[in-house]
Amino acid sequence: MHFTRLWEEITDLVDRALDSFLPGAEEFPRTIHEAMRYSVFAGGKRIRPLLLILTTKLFSEEWRRSLPVACALELIHTYSLIHDDLPAMDNDDYRRGKPTAHRLFGEAMAILAGDALLTLAFALLCGQEDQNNEYYTAYRREVPPAVKLQIIGEMAGASGVRGMIAGQVLDLEAEGQTVAVEMLNDINARKTGALIVAAVRSGALLGEAPAGEMQLLSDYASLLGRGFQIVDDLLDVEGNEKKMGKQKGMDKKRNKATVVSLYGVAEAKKLRDNLYAEALAELFPFGKKADALRKLTRFVFYRDY
Ligand code: IPE
Ligand code: IPE
Ligand code: MG
Ligand code: MG
Ligand code: MG
Repeated sequence: MHFTRLWEEITDLVDRALDSFLPGAEEFPRTIHEAMRYSVFAGGKRIRPLLLILTTKLFSEEWRRSLPVACALELIHTYSLIHDDLPAMDNDDYRRGKPTAHRLFGEAMAILAGDALLTLAFALLCGQEDQNNEYYTAYRREVPPAVKLQIIGEMAGASGVRGMIAGQVLDLEAEGQTVAVEMLNDINARKTGALIVAAVRSGALLGEAPAGEMQLLSDYASLLGRGFQIVDDLLDVEGNEKKMGKQKGMDKKRNKATVVSLYGVAEAKKLRDNLYAEALAELFPFGKKADALRKLTRFVFYRDY
């Protein structure tokens, strides 16, 4: 199948499943459900769900069982963005082409919407949500409890205090500081890399990947995570605001420590190109069946939004 069609097929299904898993906007109390839905459907690229599902597809065509996990990850990611944008953190006004959640719903509701997305993600992963949901059946019935538990561990670790949260703490503490490259790599590996690694590892677990291939994929995902943040940092300098749906120049304004602030644009691009080659090398042993993952990798490294 053509990659663009596969991309559309997967993201379309992810959007439908997300819609079915989120409480209805009219459900009581309305405000929180409206706020959650507002951010989830504001127009994210859905890179993490794609990555997770394409990784399952390396090993198995039974990838519908991965849908709830892909959705849970997108919920966690969206929560991280809502909180990342809060005035106490990056203080951003635009996200995914729209006013940020706190600008529309107020800070209290944005904080709660983030909390609610994070906890809903884990409820979904446990397999205890709506038993009649058609997007849930394969995950509930076909994924062994031990695999579900491993995935819950991956997600909790990646989003928790040794993963994304630690990265966000270090990112804030590094504002206005000149940090060593090792520290910067650690910040990026945690704040952005951890969820990307969790996407790939969970996708592989759902596809019952052998241990050796799991290691290759984990290494691939950490390279991809590093590249992902470098491109995000480059776009903050060179991107098109309309296309990205967020304001540029915000890293400089907040004196963020980024690969671009440390090395400059040209060096950051060289680093990105090297990481791209290294990431592709990890996929080499998978041969043709990894072609879709290669195309997604190319998109991540050379995207313009
Ligand atoms: C932005 O992530 C935040 C980072 C981790 C750099 P994305 O670029 O994937 O944002 P959406 O989901 O498409 O809005
Ligand atoms: C975001 O990094 C990382 C997380 C949300 C965990 P950034 O702060 O650079 O992301 P943007 O630029 O606001 O999307
Ligand atoms: Mg941030
Ligand atoms: Mg930010
Ligand atoms: Mg950024």
